Amino acid sequence: MSLDRMKIEGGFPLRGAIEIGGAKNAALPALAMTMLTPERCILKGVPALYDIQTMLDILKYFGADISKGDDKSIEVQLSVLEKTEAPYDFVRKMRASVLLLGPLLARKKIARVSLPGGCAIGVRPIDMHLKAFAALGATIRLKEGYVEAEAQELLGANFTFDITTVTGTVNAMMAASMAKGETVLHNCALEPEVVFCAEILISMGVPVDGVGTSVMRIKGQSQVGGFSATLIPDRIETGTYLVAAAITQGELVLKNTCANHLVALISVLSEAGVEIEVDGSQMRVKGNSTYHPVRIQTAPHPEFPTDMQAQVMSLLCLAKGKSEITETIFENRYMHVPELVRMGANISVKGSVAKIQGVPSLYGAPVMATDLRASASLVLAGLAAQGTTEVLRIYHLDRGYETMEKKLSSVGAKIERVEEKKSKE
Ligand code: EPU
Repeated sequence: MSLDRMKIEGGFPLRGAIEIGGAKNAALPALAMTMLTPERCILKGVPALYDIQTMLDILKYFGADISKGDDKSIEVQLSVLEKTEAPYDFVRKMRASVLLLGPLLARKKIARVSLPGGCAIGVRPIDMHLKAFAALGATIRLKEGYVEAEAQELLGANFTFDITTVTGTVNAMMAASMAKGETVLHNCALEPEVVFCAEILISMGVPVDGVGTSVMRIKGQSQVGGFSATLIPDRIETGTYLVAAAITQGELVLKNTCANHLVALISVLSEAGVEIEVDGSQMRVKGNSTYHPVRIQTAPHPEFPTDMQAQVMSLLCLAKGKSEITETIFENRYMHVPELVRMGANISVKGSVAKIQGVPSLYGAPVMATDLRASASLVLAGLAAQGTTEVLRIYHLDRGYETMEKKLSSVGAKIERVEEKKSKE
């Protein structure tokens, strides 16, 4: 695991254009869906990210033929699926490996997948995934750190998620796609990534009604076909660069975006004083010298996304007045706070509520984060800070932001990756 650092000299307004890549959190379930079929699946616009490589390694382990095209397309074909177990070595690298349960159960009627542990942002149980599989007739056992799911036959059922879950919804959809009869899933997640997966399922020959609503009806098939799909733009990468323009008082054009996926974020940033114009798939964002404080509560889509909480907090550190953030999705998603405080921010956290008293400026410092979005928030703070910031352990960033330092330096940021070897010299 690389221990590269990101070195940032703050205070340079960003100007220019940035191309947004395909969505990581749509690519991971879409790649898992390739396991449902022996036919060829094509996914276009796939960013080169550590988590996506992990998913491809897993598919290879299961016997998939994988080829990469020039235009960021990836072809996957899993003609024969013999293995039914995903060992801990894969799952510990990436929680999203839990997405293997649904397709394995659908295609093989048996799955053994190592239980993901807790992670830096919270306990993150998978009870809803398992209850959905049980509702479809699977027997679930937890044994020696593994989830074992098995069914003679999956049967369509009525199932209500007690908690809205993104990967849980997709996992249940995948299992239901090959269940006998109709499955009705209630309280489904509405995230654009879930809608994207439902549309892929339809193109694989599985009728799905209610796409984009909280109740989806899925007519299971005995076999499903391949697919060809282009990834939706990464809404969290888009949001992160919106904040990058705002926090540096710069002006950026973001290309390949979908503003409809970011309504709550755009509304919060506009309220704070960021100017955002949408023109088809482009967004123009212009920063200001003064920002207003705002109150935010994270919640499932279409509300404010938890995956943008840390980045927006960095901006609010520099607003004029007191902002408040309530994090309702994950119980431990404020790990960026002590690091921002080391850069001069004035933030206090009580339970799920963070109060941010704006300060006139942040100061560069060595900082470290233990998850992806927290690391992004520290890069953003570093872009605005006076002096030099070093963000340590940026392998977290490499899981979810493609060549972040290149994209940022192309629009005027003074940012460089310091490789582990060089940093030891
Ligand atoms: N939850 C349960 N039981 C379950 C499933 C979820 O209690 O069976 C709880 C979780 O602990 C959490 C809440 O429900 O408190 C929502 O979790 P969800 O299942 O929706 O999250 P996820 O599917 O594991 C995805 C993204 C996350 C993003 C969340 C919320 C992927 C691969 N991951 O995770 O992305 O934060 O939805 O929007 O799609 C990231 O990209 O940085 C990231 C963490």
